Amino acid sequence: MKLLQEKIQAEGIVLSDQVLKVDSFLNHQIDPQLMLAIGKEFVSRFAQDQITKVLTIESSGIAPAIMTAMLLNVPLLFARKQKSLTLQNNVYVEQVHSFTKQVTNEITVSKKFLEEGDKVLIIDDFLAHGEAAFGLAKIVRQAGAEVAGIGIVIEKSFQNGRAKLDDAGFRVESLARIKSLTDGQVRFVEDSAV
Ligand code: G4P
Ligand code: NA
Ligand code: NA
Repeated sequence: MKLLQEKIQAEGIVLSDQVLKVDSFLNHQIDPQLMLAIGKEFVSRFAQDQITKVLTIESSGIAPAIMTAMLLNVPLLFARKQKSLTLQNNVYVEQVHSFTKQVTNEITVSKKFLEEGDKVLIIDDFLAHGEAAFGLAKIVRQAGAEVAGIGIVIEKSFQNGRAKLDDAGFRVESLARIKSLTDGQVRFVEDSAV
């Protein structure tokens, strides 16, 4: 997605060979027009899949996911990272280990909002090691629902998440695919330049 690549080049800050900071439009301040364009792009890629629900994880997945859900006219559901006091029983739980942050979170989704027969589009802001996406997919399967696909805003293709999701048979659509962050430069995988 060209608009997104341009935004990353203009405003992204390469913090290290591994980490890209995008807090001016995605992870802290949010660019609503860009999120809308991202939603439209996900919808164009999953228009034929009869999605019944969009699933993401708090917090930064919510902005791109809400635009996608709105355009698909389906609910957006987000997994919580902290067990809420009012949401203890009747939840699906998965462990998600963050290699970036070196912590393991329990993510939860109420059983009330996912059911057998749902066709779920998983959306997330970043794909690094794939832990969050796998955790969400396992929750969908716990519910007896189907993962229609996984939509990622920014994929770091040099880390192993994409390959793991491909190997597991998931359909992954990433709107920007980063080949490397070396020398302070963002380089994209060629085939994402559309
Ligand atoms: P994984 O799910 O693909 O395995 O990723 P990982 O555990 O490494 O990521 C942990 C957190 O760090 C996630 O955010 C993820 O979106 C974010 N992250 C990973 N790599 C980058 C990066 O290069 N740049 C930025 N900006 N974020 C990255 P989170 O903890 O869930 O926080 P939130 O932003 O959703 O609140
Ligand atoms: Na994030
Ligand atoms: Na996220």
